[in-house]
Amino acid sequence: MELIRRVSLMREISREKRGRGKKIALVPTMGALHDGHLSLVRRARDLADIVVVSIFVNPTQFGPREDYERYPRDLARDADLCIAEGVDYVFAPEANDMYPPGYRTWVEVEGLSSVLEGASRPGHFRGVCTVVLKLLNIVRPHFALFGQKDAQQAIIVRRMVRDLNVDVELVVCETVRQPDGLALSSRNAYLSPEDRAAATVLFRALERARVLVEDEGETDAARVEREVREVLAGEPRVRVDYVALVDEDDLQPVERIERPVLVALAAWLGDTRLIDNVIVKPRKRGGEQPS
Ligand code: PAF
Repeated sequence: MELIRRVSLMREISREKRGRGKKIALVPTMGALHDGHLSLVRRARDLADIVVVSIFVNPTQFGPREDYERYPRDLARDADLCIAEGVDYVFAPEANDMYPPGYRTWVEVEGLSSVLEGASRPGHFRGVCTVVLKLLNIVRPHFALFGQKDAQQAIIVRRMVRDLNVDVELVVCETVRQPDGLALSSRNAYLSPEDRAAATVLFRALERARVLVEDEGETDAARVEREVREVLAGEPRVRVDYVALVDEDDLQPVERIERPVLVALAAWLGDTRLIDNVIVKPRKRGGEQPS
């Protein structure tokens, strides 16, 4: 594994690998790697000859009162994990190489970026899209891998890639969970033991949505949302930010669940904000289970 700190060197390496006909896969991360990231790395290994993991805590996707300063950073540990997974390159640029003085260009996917996470975190997806497009331009991967846990991010990046004709195949991989259902996230490290225990309610609430729709045939989105909120309300340590049932493609609210629908939520435990989601698939007509 080689650690690359300079944008210019990463570009040179990618150019050389592409020139020799190698397939490149990029796993973009902000570090603090966990099994969720490593599952993306393993999938990348299957897809490509060269696996690049980018590690960059991107300042432009954090709001002024968010956790940019305290976001967990441990490059040595992350590099060891990447070595163990057979990663070829860790690309960990400095902020002033990614955003040199005079930097002025931003990428925004209108509409999709201002709902759900975007409503609670104004400017977040502008920062995400900008850095992801920069990483795609620097690394020039054939494949880029994202986790379903950040469902809205994956949807927005997909739209950006489509709208801007970026030549990359996006691969979205399933959320990896702890045995008790909590979705893996670098921010789980902030949770106190009490909040960590309480956080399992997020998965239980989403499971309730899945059972209602897939096992019981419920199609009324408002009822599903109400029941999800009721499960969350059973845990006094949780403060709900949002619960929403939206279209998988354009993130518009749905009333009737007639095709797969994204059930997304965000909630605070103490001063830690967690997100999670599930896609629920309606029963087929005639009452069969979804496949
Ligand atoms: O999901 C993340 O870790 C980040 O949003 C990403 C995609 C690496 C961009 O900074």
